[in-house]
Amino acid sequence: MEHMEGLCVTGCERCPELVDSRSRIVNGVGPDDADLLFLGEAPGAKEDEGGEPFVGRSGSVLDDALREAGLARADVRITNCVRCRPPDNRDPTSDELSNCRGYLARELELVDPELVVTLGKVPSQHLLDRGVAITNESGSVVDARVGDASYRVLLSVHPAATLYDRSQREGFFETIARAADLSGLADSADGQASLGDF
Ligand code: URA
Repeated sequence: MEHMEGLCVTGCERCPELVDSRSRIVNGVGPDDADLLFLGEAPGAKEDEGGEPFVGRSGSVLDDALREAGLARADVRITNCVRCRPPDNRDPTSDELSNCRGYLARELELVDPELVVTLGKVPSQHLLDRGVAITNESGSVVDARVGDASYRVLLSVHPAATLYDRSQREGFFETIARAADLSGLADSADGQASLGDF
């Protein structure tokens, strides 16, 4: 059974191992017309449990970086390349990525963000369809074709990289601030801050 209602996949059994390892399908969250969309790899244990992307330790780092850029989690859309938790948190296989790609293409088409931020190597390689040395390429802006449309993409390291290697934190926070700028959200965040001053 494969089924998508709007932005949500409500049933899918294309990936036998993921059907076994998941508790649920984890769909994207956030406004259905968001200007800024974050793309992760696949749900982990916490996401599988909570049914929402980036709610574990990586999610706290992302939330902190958003806050420092003047944004709230509710301002942005957050989704993953693969919507079901892989066993033992392994990377999704190329078959799993391609099985889920149509759902991602549909979500991108409906949300039509100004900017997509790829969080880590797997989503960056998936959208660009080439090898990516993410630590070197983080901060680059490129165009990527998904389905019938092309999107502006900002490459970023995964927030978990900042947990393994503290020295990556500053660069990650700068990339998220850049994302706020490039998507036009930084302007509205500034506007709100100054209105709040009165
Ligand atoms: N890492 C990801 O790539 N996605 C999540 O949803 C959580 C952690």
